[in-house]
Amino acid sequence: MNAGLEDVVAAQTVLSDVDGNNGRLIVRGVSLDALVTTSSYEDVLGLLFAGFFPKPAAMQAALGAARVAVFSHVTAADPALIALPPVDGMRALLARLGDSDDLDAALQLVAAPAVFIPALLRLQSDKPAIAPDPSRPHAADTLAMLTGAAPTDQQAAALDRYLVTVADHGLNASTFAARVVASTRAGLTSSVLAALSALKGPLHGGAPGPVLDMLDAVGIPEQAPAWIAAELARGERLMGFGHRIYRVRDPRADALKSAVRMLAQSGAIDPARLALAEAIERSALAQLKAKKPDRPLETNVEFYTALLLEALGFPRQAFTGVFAMGRVGGWIAHAREQAETGRLIRPKSVYVGPQPQEAA
Ligand code: COA
Repeated sequence: MNAGLEDVVAAQTVLSDVDGNNGRLIVRGVSLDALVTTSSYEDVLGLLFAGFFPKPAAMQAALGAARVAVFSHVTAADPALIALPPVDGMRALLARLGDSDDLDAALQLVAAPAVFIPALLRLQSDKPAIAPDPSRPHAADTLAMLTGAAPTDQQAAALDRYLVTVADHGLNASTFAARVVASTRAGLTSSVLAALSALKGPLHGGAPGPVLDMLDAVGIPEQAPAWIAAELARGERLMGFGHRIYRVRDPRADALKSAVRMLAQSGAIDPARLALAEAIERSALAQLKAKKPDRPLETNVEFYTALLLEALGFPRQAFTGVFAMGRVGGWIAHAREQAETGRLIRPKSVYVGPQPQEAA
């Protein structure tokens, strides 16, 4: 089959580097380990956008104003749109944004998932959408729009860390989709819509919901080994494990695991839920190693994402939309980089079909 095709270099980027052999993620010269302890999501946005957009006087205020601007589109959510899965409803609302390439358009696209997902979740439960407060940091305001109450500092910090952790990650499927569309000179909204469509699949950003389904199915820590053995015997994949690039532990899994532990210390996560997750992780890693000794299959970003987002009050059907809240910053920076420095992306396929029959 197409062995080696994944090694084709499809873009040059200054934005991020995924070092799969050493389990390291670098975002514009800063390692993820440093980024999560020193930077807010607004800081990371400034890092990703530098040189591609003019620097706003204050990123937090500019992003707050963008949340207010996109909130006006929530009124377009009719019953049919509200009934869609949240990520699909969000995509439909996002498609209403103009397709320009400037900083205002970029910030509105960043603001959109954080405004639309909480609004749609509330509308689905017959509650009114809550308008953004532009003076709040992005993560704290997102949680306030979801629950209607100011989050605790720990909750706001946990979502902020999640958004920082997932903001950019090399040329993953959704980022590649964004760059392909940007390479045609279609605008930023078109690039983000393509990326979002790629993100929603279960092999990319759709995994954390099924991670919770697994936790529910296992039920208690003692049942983890037998449940996992049965899944693997049926040829099923364990959600939250394995990665195309990482051959060691995904560094994002540890960044999020420590955020989950912080939430647990503040009482925001049921210790029994955390103990169940840890038992499943231990058993899954041991059994994957035994089953595939030559193919390292480690915990990926989605596993602890599931626990974190559940603890913050997001329902599992909205997890992909929350992933988009963070990754949208990376998509936009990549789209700008591609439009400014790249060419039309037009890879070749290898034809393996039949040749036409020559007339006798
Ligand atoms: N559980 C069980 N087996 C797994 C596995 C998992 N999570 N991930 C990979 N494998 C197995 C495959 O079945 C395959 O076995 P085979 O050679 O006998 O067919 C082998 O490991 C190699 O898998 P491959 O499909 O080549 O890996 P990939 O690089 O294409 O896949 C993922 C990467 C992420 C798509 C894959 O690991 C996966 O499906 N994980 C679960 C979904 C998930 O967590 N996604 C979020 C990613 S951040």
